[in-house]
Amino acid sequence: MKKFAHIKVKPVSPNIGAEITGVRLAEPLSADVVDEINGALIRFLVIFFRDQSLTLEQLQRVASQFGKPTPYPFIDGLDGFPEIIEVLKLPGETENFGGVWHSDTTYLESPSMGAMLYAVEVPEAGGDTLFANMYSAYQQLSEGMQDLLVTLSAVNDADKSEIAQSRIHRMSNSQQKNLRAIHPVIRTHPETSKKLLYVNRAHTTRFDRMTRSESEGLLNYLFDIQSRPEHCCRFHWQAGSLAFWDNRACQHYPVNDYQGQKRLMYRISLAGNKPF
Ligand code: SIN
Repeated sequence: MKKFAHIKVKPVSPNIGAEITGVRLAEPLSADVVDEINGALIRFLVIFFRDQSLTLEQLQRVASQFGKPTPYPFIDGLDGFPEIIEVLKLPGETENFGGVWHSDTTYLESPSMGAMLYAVEVPEAGGDTLFANMYSAYQQLSEGMQDLLVTLSAVNDADKSEIAQSRIHRMSNSQQKNLRAIHPVIRTHPETSKKLLYVNRAHTTRFDRMTRSESEGLLNYLFDIQSRPEHCCRFHWQAGSLAFWDNRACQHYPVNDYQGQKRLMYRISLAGNKPF
């Protein structure tokens, strides 16, 4: 396994997540550091940085060192930074953005490759985010189930009810489109060539060429497997924390347990390729 010479990497759970230290993201990163951070991302699926202090410009630059920033489909970007959106929950609001287990934008032909989320203001307690490893979810399935799923594709809809509800109050009117894409149920990661389970509770509505009611039982079984604690880590945010996840291989779930408090994050997505 590749060693890290330029950054410090400490796993936060056996299966997923690592905290990176020894890096100031506000400063331009050397090619070696970018290479090692990329290596850590591929190996741990989500990586965390603490005590960073980033302007929007710096966040945009950090993201650009790891891929091509891309606008989020439903939410207008910030002035001058079309690829950066606010993930904001105000004290009077009850829904949290993206509050269902999901991988991002699987309703697009080419869902994002990853995303960065930077904490600006966080509740005193609560508002953590859980991340889950979809390689280990796949490996937990029996050989017979793996063989069946590898033959299937699934339909992913932007407007599946729970997730659509979670962002409705932040949507720009011009972009309320029903987006849909069909992807393999078992995806092969383009960099590791390993197989992983690629359906998600927020967007996957049915197997391709099957009805919703025919698909429901097996999909719900898979959704339950995906969020089992042994596949997960939990990140507790502080102002200045940044998470960077590999959206091809993990899912995330923001915990909505901080009613009456404000939480403000900046989020930037990186363009991805068509899953195979
Ligand atoms: C998201 O799904 O991008 C939001 C994650 C979070 O707020 O923790």
